[in-house]
Amino acid sequence: MVHWPDNMVTYYGSEKILFSNDAFGQHIASAERFDDQLPLDIILEEAQKYYANIVLPYGKQVQMALEVASELDIEVIAPSHGLIWRTHIPEIIDRYNGWSKNKTEEKAVVVYDSMWGSTAELAETIEKTFTSAGINAKKINLEKTHISDVMTDLLTARYIAVGSSTLNNNMLPSVSGFLTYMRGLAPENRLGLAFGSYGWSGESVVQIMDVLTDCGFKLLPEIKVQYRPSDKMLENAAEDLKESLEQNLSEDEKEKEKAQKYRCETCGYIYNPEKGDPEGDIKPGTSFEDLPDDWVCPICGASKDLFLAVD
Ligand SMILES: Cc1cc2nc3c(=O)[nH]c(=O)nc-3n(C[C@H](O)[C@H](O)[C@H](O)COP(=O)(O)O)c2cc1C
Repeated sequence: MVHWPDNMVTYYGSEKILFSNDAFGQHIASAERFDDQLPLDIILEEAQKYYANIVLPYGKQVQMALEVASELDIEVIAPSHGLIWRTHIPEIIDRYNGWSKNKTEEKAVVVYDSMWGSTAELAETIEKTFTSAGINAKKINLEKTHISDVMTDLLTARYIAVGSSTLNNNMLPSVSGFLTYMRGLAPENRLGLAFGSYGWSGESVVQIMDVLTDCGFKLLPEIKVQYRPSDKMLENAAEDLKESLEQNLSEDEKEKEKAQKYRCETCGYIYNPEKGDPEGDIKPGTSFEDLPDDWVCPICGASKDLFLAVD
């Protein structure tokens, strides 16, 4: 079940070939058959597109399949679509590991559609604001880009900004089509941002927020303007986004600190906040910072100041 229930992965031991079915595939039609016969960046980009559009909802199953595959001696991976891997197996396994864990980069996709350019102006401002905050950003107009290509970019993007103006009390059909497609592919661990221009009732932004929330994304405050945004409105939108990005970064830091493990430099014991220290009456979920000052290492009795953060 790495894609459909009837998909089987077969290992042919005497030739060390993994017939991997949908896993590790690409939608490439070429006269070449092997991964060392075309530029690697093209094959990996195609593998990313295939994963984002076909395999993404099955990350947990991919993880299980990777675990099984790690026990096998594999010299060739022959998927049912695309080129056969014989040289770059470590590279594609590494990508699958990241993708299937929903690992993302500090990268934003700003996806939008616009009738007369007002939402497009917001998209431009949002793209620039992400970039100036040090977040790699890409603006994508749904009129010109197929939703399957949006998914390729979105696969590794932590921030997903979606914009639409309001048309007859709704978002634009292209945006709603994209959101339906994206929701079905179930990307996880993202930050969403809804934006758009409107005339009087302005339902589009609320509807986008509803879908992003339904996807389980944490939301940044929405950006909404009436009709054509003035320079001042764009400036304010940029300022608000900059602030919410900064606030989010500091919340992220706090979250990281809460989950940070610490090692006792005396005996090597590792304090894991997820587990706590039940024998010392420390509940699971207690960060190292929140441990009482008189807490000591349960193994060797060393004090808190003899612990160092684990990388
Ligand atoms: C056919 C049509 C229907 C519209 N319906 C609504 C509506 O129901 N509610 C609303 O707030 N604005 C509505 N608008 C106004 C647009 O949302 C507004 O002009 C917006 O600035 C357009 O932004 P855009 O250039 O990004 O498409 C409508 C505009 C058109 C042309």
